Amino acid sequence: MAKKSFLDRISDLTKIAHRANFSSVDKHIANLNFETRFSEMVTTRYTCNSFIDRKINPSKIEKILKVARIAPSQGDCPSVHVWAVTSDEALARMREVNPFSGAPAVFMVGCDRAKAWVRKFDNKSSADTDAAVVSMHILLEASDLGLGTVWLSEFDPAKVAELFPETAGYEIAALLAVGYPDPNEEPGVLVNAHKPVEDFATVL
Ligand SMILES: Cc1cc2nc3c(=O)[nH]c(=O)nc-3n(C[C@H](O)[C@H](O)[C@H](O)COP(=O)(O)O)c2cc1C
Repeated sequence: MAKKSFLDRISDLTKIAHRANFSSVDKHIANLNFETRFSEMVTTRYTCNSFIDRKINPSKIEKILKVARIAPSQGDCPSVHVWAVTSDEALARMREVNPFSGAPAVFMVGCDRAKAWVRKFDNKSSADTDAAVVSMHILLEASDLGLGTVWLSEFDPAKVAELFPETAGYEIAALLAVGYPDPNEEPGVLVNAHKPVEDFATVL
């Protein structure tokens, strides 16, 4: 290869420096955008109780599962498993568990207590906490994808076990219904009725 002239080498260095500057500006802007977008997403998110009849693209289901998978947990989530209920057949079973609103997808988050980390001082299991953190990742990623969500706690675990033998060995900690929000839905009365931060948190 021909030897580069002094001027060529200076020009190369300048280009590299420019690129480095631009990439750090990009990163900075991306961070600012993320902060703004995240705050906006969590403040506009609401519990959605009515969905339109529209299937969710499998790529979105996959994205939600990937984000669920990277949720922080005690020891890489040994106790948590997620089932994405999306087929008509499985959704028909789900309607018997919770006669819910026609959501096109319901994520079942289960935990196997036997596999969870246990705190030695008081034998507290991390199973429920791990499942709750995974559940929040699902809700937030779904919101980020423009989907509506509702956490459903009203279900009979025995019915889940009977209708979903796939979940054998797991306690179902959360059912999360996800879909495209009905634009005509009146958000619930509790929306934006959260108590003030001063009553909720204490800075010490
Ligand atoms: C653990 C948990 C269980 C919940 N169970 C239900 C439920 O069974 N049905 C429901 O409509 N909303 C349920 N929610 C949603 C809450 O009612 C809702 O988050 C709260 O009213 C605040 O409203 P927002 O989510 O619209 O801000 C649940 C939320 C959590 C975190």
